[in-house]
Amino acid sequence: MAAIARFERQASSSNTTNPSCTILATMASRTRRNIWRSKRLIIRPVEPSDDAFLQSLTEETTDDYQNSTPFVPVPQGAAGAKSFREFMEKCLVGCIICLPASNTPEPEIATPLSDSPPKKPVPTPIGTISLMATEAKLAHHRNTEIGVTIATSYQGQGYGSEAVLWALEWAFRHANMHRVDIRAFGWNEGAWKLYERLGFVLEGRKREAMWYDGAYHDAVELGMLRSEWQARYGEAKAGSQSA
Ligand SMILES: CC(C)(COP(=O)(O)OP(=O)(O)OC[C@H]1O[C@@H](n2cnc3c(N)ncnc32)[C@H](O)[C@@H]1OP(=O)(O)O)[C@@H](O)C(=O)NCCC(=O)NCCS
Repeated sequence: MAAIARFERQASSSNTTNPSCTILATMASRTRRNIWRSKRLIIRPVEPSDDAFLQSLTEETTDDYQNSTPFVPVPQGAAGAKSFREFMEKCLVGCIICLPASNTPEPEIATPLSDSPPKKPVPTPIGTISLMATEAKLAHHRNTEIGVTIATSYQGQGYGSEAVLWALEWAFRHANMHRVDIRAFGWNEGAWKLYERLGFVLEGRKREAMWYDGAYHDAVELGMLRSEWQARYGEAKAGSQSA
């Protein structure tokens, strides 16, 4: 940190035509970025203590559960949440999407009679975001797939879009991926149209591959190449997605 401050002082006190200072200042400002933040979101690792939150995601509405998974709908309970958490832990990156504590309406604080120190307000979990890991023998293709869920009461406020853009930047800029897939079910048109608006290309529909609510529906597959991300969001533009 001290070295960074020194670079910044050098850069600001010297003539800006000095290329080495310009490079160091750029490095310093890049080093200060926090890749686990986007404009409004905190992205943090999934923990065993998240199981109750993960369980709540499967229980708020069965629609959301069925929009997120191809599995036959069975009550998930604690075991389902644990198995989802274990799946996320095996992902390339499997994280909880949170709102900063300042956005939490009523942070938990100690009562005046309590001896324990006031509890620090914690970020509020609102969803999950993951990028699938590929086995070592497939890693050279540099492909991954996004999975995203936003809790029902936080949907429709742009958080899902922001989390997907965060995941794309992480995949292309930090994990050096070549393409990122995202899948949706034909009946969930709101989801796949959203992904198209974010720049994913509709690449295929597996006709009548999914049974849902009494009828067969298509499975919809979309993808984004690194070059497409670069043209739309890359480098300077991508940085603007982050805090
Ligand atoms: C799909 C999902 C990730 C989108 O995140 P979000 O934060 O709700 O979406 P945003 O606010 O960024 O964008 C809103 C758009 O998402 C689309 N959308 C899809 N499903 C939606 C839902 N259940 N609620 C609100 N918007 C939804 C709409 O087209 C909406 O666009 P509009 O405002 O023009 O109508 C989220 O709604 C979700 O997790 N839904 C339940 C599970 C699911 O459908 N998962 C998709 C798996 S592929």
